[in-house]
Amino acid sequence: MATDPRDASLGAGHAAGLVVRPARPRDLDAAARVLVAAFPSEFRLLFGPRQRVGEDVAAHVLHHDYPTRRGVWVACDGERIVGVMLLAAPPQLQSQPPWRLAWHVAWRHVGLWRMPRLALALLLPRYTVQRDEVYVRAIGVLAEERGRGAGTMLLACAETWARDHHKRWLGLHVHRENPGAHRLHQRLGYRERGYRASLITWILLQQRGAYYLRKPISTPVG
Ligand SMILES: CC(C)(COP(=O)(O)OP(=O)(O)OC[C@H]1O[C@@H](n2cnc3c(N)ncnc32)[C@H](O)[C@@H]1OP(=O)(O)O)[C@@H](O)C(=O)NCCC(=O)NCCS
Repeated sequence: MATDPRDASLGAGHAAGLVVRPARPRDLDAAARVLVAAFPSEFRLLFGPRQRVGEDVAAHVLHHDYPTRRGVWVACDGERIVGVMLLAAPPQLQSQPPWRLAWHVAWRHVGLWRMPRLALALLLPRYTVQRDEVYVRAIGVLAEERGRGAGTMLLACAETWARDHHKRWLGLHVHRENPGAHRLHQRLGYRERGYRASLITWILLQQRGAYYLRKPISTPVG
């Protein structure tokens, strides 16, 4: 499949029938559905069993932050979006201040009666992205499309983007209970640089803690 030359200039890649590129505005609803499908427990915790609410909220967040320079990348098989990656890298890729957005989401998509559930989000561990870092906030591929290389390609694009923007490393968190993803990241050169245990995620999501993994970005010689 031919890639759009505009995407190539942004570091897009393709292989095995898949294309990875920055999201376009029309991709964002589908990208939100992929995120909800890839992280079912997290979305169920925050928005309950009605998957549609989680999808609406995720879509709203993506639309709100895009094109205001938050890095949303998609992996596509033809027209179908099969994977999504969200990057953060201040000051180039920065999400909007959360309060107005949180209010809008709570009021418009969630409803006051579901607010206590949403408030759980405030208890979840946070991470402050470093200046020299590109941080992978989320990477998810549809279950039936895993193992085709979409995750590897998305991360390769993150790396290219980081190199082009003179960042020094890529960082991400992976839950202790996610050995498959951990193995993938280690194979790609990420190494453990920290571990944070969390009673909250243990109680709410049966995730006892997360490793912080980091991969240095090599700069081309010459
Ligand atoms: C982790 C994830 C993004 C990888 O995407 P992918 O497109 O399957 O990745 P690739 O095809 O490039 O690589 C496959 C590798 O992913 C890992 N993997 C993790 N979960 C997997 C799954 N359910 N199915 C297949 N591979 C999986 C495996 O280690 C596999 O490597 P292996 O050959 O050593 O077994 C994807 O499994 C996913 O969306 N998981 C759910 C969300 C998640 O855990 N995100 C990561 C948070 S850090």
